[in-house]
Amino acid sequence: MFKVGIITASDKGYAHERVDESGKVIKEIVEKNGYSVAKYLVLPDDEAMLSKEMIYMSDEMKVNLILTTGGTGFSERDVTPEATLKVVDKLAPGIVEAIRHYSLSITKRAMLSRAVSGIRNKTLIINLPGSPKAVRESLEYIIDTLQHGLEILQGIASECARK
Ligand code: MTE
Repeated sequence: MFKVGIITASDKGYAHERVDESGKVIKEIVEKNGYSVAKYLVLPDDEAMLSKEMIYMSDEMKVNLILTTGGTGFSERDVTPEATLKVVDKLAPGIVEAIRHYSLSITKRAMLSRAVSGIRNKTLIINLPGSPKAVRESLEYIIDTLQHGLEILQGIASECARK
C-alpha cells in the first residue's frame, strides 16, 4: 500500500479562518483508491515551511507520494510551485500537463494554475490547485495512472506492459 502525505497550503486555513475542505477531498479520494494517508497538515503559504515539510515527508517518513493543494495561482503569497521546485531532483511535467489539459475542458481558468510535479528520491510530489472542486477534478483524472508511475519509482514494475 502506497503512503501519501497531504499538505494544504493556505494562510487562512493555517490561521483557522477557513476550514480546509480541499485536504479532506484528497484524503477521501486517495483512501478510496487504496492508499494510506501517513500525514496530513495545513501550512501557511510560506516557501521555506512548505519545502521543509516536503523534505521531511520524503526523507524521514519515506512517503511514496506527496499531494499539495493550494498556492499555485498568481497571488503574491502563492509559492507552492517554488517550494516544490526547490526540493525535487527531477521534473515529471506530464502529470501537471495532463491535469491542465483535462481541466481546460472544464474551465479556461485552469491555465492560471502554475502547479508543478517532480520526483525527490523515491517520492513523487504533485501540486494540485486550491479549491475542493479543482482538487476533485484534477486528482480523479490522474489517480488511475499514478499507480503505475509509483510502482516504477519503487522498482516494483520495471517495464510497461504492452497492450
Ligand atoms: N482546475 C480545475 N480542474 N478546476 C478549477 O476550478 N480553478 C483554476 C485553476 N485550476 C480550477 C483549476 C483557478 S480559478 C486558479 S486561480 C488556479 O487553478 C490556481 O488555484 P490556486 O491558487 O488555488 O492553487
